[in-house]
Amino acid sequence: MDSILVRGGQRLNGRIAISGAKNACLALMPAALLSDEPLTLTNAPRLSDIRTMTALLESLGCEVAALQQGRVLVVGTEAIRDHTADYEIVRRMRASILVLGPMLARDGQAVVSLPGGCAIGARPVDLHLAGLEALGAKLDLRDGYVHATAPRRLRGATFAFPTVSVGATENLLMAASLAKGTTVLKNAAREPEIVDLAQCLRRMGAQIEGDGTETIVIDGVERLRGATHPVVTDRIELGTYMLAPAITGGEVELIGGRRDLVAAFADRLEAAGVEISETAEGLKVSRQNGRIRAVDVVTAPFPGFPTDLQAQMMALLTLADGVSHLEERIFENRFMHAPELSRMGAKIEVHGGGATVTGVERLKGAPVMATDLRASVSLILAGLAAEGETRVARVYHLDRGYERVEEKLSACGASIERIHERAA
Ligand code: EPZ
Repeated sequence: MDSILVRGGQRLNGRIAISGAKNACLALMPAALLSDEPLTLTNAPRLSDIRTMTALLESLGCEVAALQQGRVLVVGTEAIRDHTADYEIVRRMRASILVLGPMLARDGQAVVSLPGGCAIGARPVDLHLAGLEALGAKLDLRDGYVHATAPRRLRGATFAFPTVSVGATENLLMAASLAKGTTVLKNAAREPEIVDLAQCLRRMGAQIEGDGTETIVIDGVERLRGATHPVVTDRIELGTYMLAPAITGGEVELIGGRRDLVAAFADRLEAAGVEISETAEGLKVSRQNGRIRAVDVVTAPFPGFPTDLQAQMMALLTLADGVSHLEERIFENRFMHAPELSRMGAKIEVHGGGATVTGVERLKGAPVMATDLRASVSLILAGLAAEGETRVARVYHLDRGYERVEEKLSACGASIERIHERAA
């Protein structure tokens, strides 16, 4: 298994191009199931999660062509030949549940494995199921699978989410686009990935209004057509690389970066003493001398501070001058990076859904590993600032969501390399 070796202490200077968003692309690809004409996605990221979604769609009968080294994906679904999303794929990636709504809307049938828990929390899919039931789907849960039918087409309805869910909003947005009548989604997620999906569906002929607000209205149409759609910039990759010069010192321009995608995060970064400015091509982030200031962070659904940047922000705050409090409000078990950061000399106390970080003057490199994607990259950020060598194991987590991380960082002067190891 590969690992990443970081030798800390280099200030970073340069430019990093931000890729298309993994989490947007994972919702856009299943939208292709809604039409018998091909959906072309440009600006796609090249990640293992995208390959997993490709395998899932192919298992259902889609033809997926990856052009321009995977930057462009063409997904064609003349017919859905198999309506079962198998456990073997779903267990590898929870976003697999996003094929449920589209298959049900197009053909009135779908069988999808229940994903089960994961490292960051229980993550049930009850909201996806309740929403589809509100649209008239009949659901039967047996043998670890949800068997869903809607023989006479889904019907528009009003559904209020009891809690905000990105994935459930996406599933319902796709299902309602082909339902008969009008659907109103209340307390819907407002993430940029939702707006991106709605834009793509509109290009395919869907009638959607209100995306980006908490009430989305969808007038179902009889059929959707093919379209070409560029995947929105990855705001989590953007935020992660904004933290790189923040933690090491230096100045990095993030090409394609947009402040509106990361506003709450950018505000906290500025409060910590990091400079952010808009440029013709993106965002520039710089920190010259002096220590980071301690700041408090509370994660929340968009437009709040993203849970997917909490681990990376914690890495920065381990070096702050003072005490910071981080509160995780989205997932119940998302502090697994804390004990690993502590192995590098950080002072962190985790208590329930919160963590108190007492800043230290320096971190020391150490062998570390992580159990999820964002935790892994937080250890790389810490390694960039630490004295000596940090070896981050289990890089397959990283490859799910960060494209060519070592190339992007070393182009700015970081000493970082991938070590290929044969399995023992
Ligand atoms: C998406 O997951 C992202 N994944 C996650 O990114 C991200 O952390 C999360 O949204 C929150 O922003 C993708 O887009 C592929 P949710 P999702 O449904 O849709 C609870 C990363 O690192 N909930 O908004 O699964 C749930 O347990 C990943 O890239 C229910 O209770 O998240 C959580 O506490 C990790 N029932 C909260 O809602 C449900 O049916 C928000 O989850 C659904 C969710």
